[in-house]
Amino acid sequence: MQDDPSDIIFSATSNIPKHVAIIMDGNGRWAQKRGLPRVAGHKAGVETVRSVIQTCVEKGIEVVTLFAFSSENWRRPEKEVTLLMSLFLMALQREVKKLHKNEVQLRIVGDVSAFDNKIQEQIKKAEALTEDNKSLVLNIAANYGGQWDITQSVKTLAEKVESGVLKADDITSDLISQNLCMSDLPEPDLFIRTGGEQRVSNFLIWQLAYSELYFTDTLWPDFDRQAFEEALSSFAGRQRRFGHTGEQIEKMKNA
Ligand code: IPE
Ligand code: IPE
Ligand code: MG
Repeated sequence: MQDDPSDIIFSATSNIPKHVAIIMDGNGRWAQKRGLPRVAGHKAGVETVRSVIQTCVEKGIEVVTLFAFSSENWRRPEKEVTLLMSLFLMALQREVKKLHKNEVQLRIVGDVSAFDNKIQEQIKKAEALTEDNKSLVLNIAANYGGQWDITQSVKTLAEKVESGVLKADDITSDLISQNLCMSDLPEPDLFIRTGGEQRVSNFLIWQLAYSELYFTDTLWPDFDRQAFEEALSSFAGRQRRFGHTGEQIEKMKNA
């Protein structure tokens, strides 16, 4: 929540987003267009992840959050889910050293308890290795759902009410925010969805309250540096108002 005027001024005047959140969509269609199995699209998508991370580091973006697997993606055919899991594990094993070398801090956000032990162990190892890194925070949303996130925050608060340390009347939107995933990080300034669909698909539904939304038809494996730069330049050209008038924002900028 951007209540503090200095936060609003910064967010309203900065041309580079601090936090970019991306729904990496269109892998399956990318593969199908080439007569390949869907998993080939997921594999090709890993390359785009590398390039996006590199661009974020170069541009001084502080946080990037990538939606890798939603809480609803378990509904996919079992074979695709299994392949996605093994790809996730492989990527974790293969990429972590390089991420660490590039000072990237890796965090997995979502209900990781649903993943098998091998993946959970790898996640713990990767997070521990990279936890002090400062060049970029990379959040991978895996078994993540915005509704799950809000529910777990509200549950934490309800437990406090139950045990008497909190009054229901003292629950504020700030308190709900503070118990969501990534509450220690700035909220996304820019949301990108590739693959042509214009929906949020249960991604960061609370945290996107004031994000700038950018949709592109480009399929995720084709989302190259130039495509990302186009999204960043669209962001840079927008006026964020946070409820103020355009004139007020102009005054803040010139102050
Ligand atoms: C996004 O690509 C990746 C995941 C959801 C894991 P899709 O697999 O949804 O690709 P399309 O939307 O079917 O093309
Ligand atoms: C959203 O994409 C989830 C990820 C990219 C991980 P989906 O492809 O699952 O979204 P829907 O089902 O088209 O809304
Ligand atoms: Mg999709």
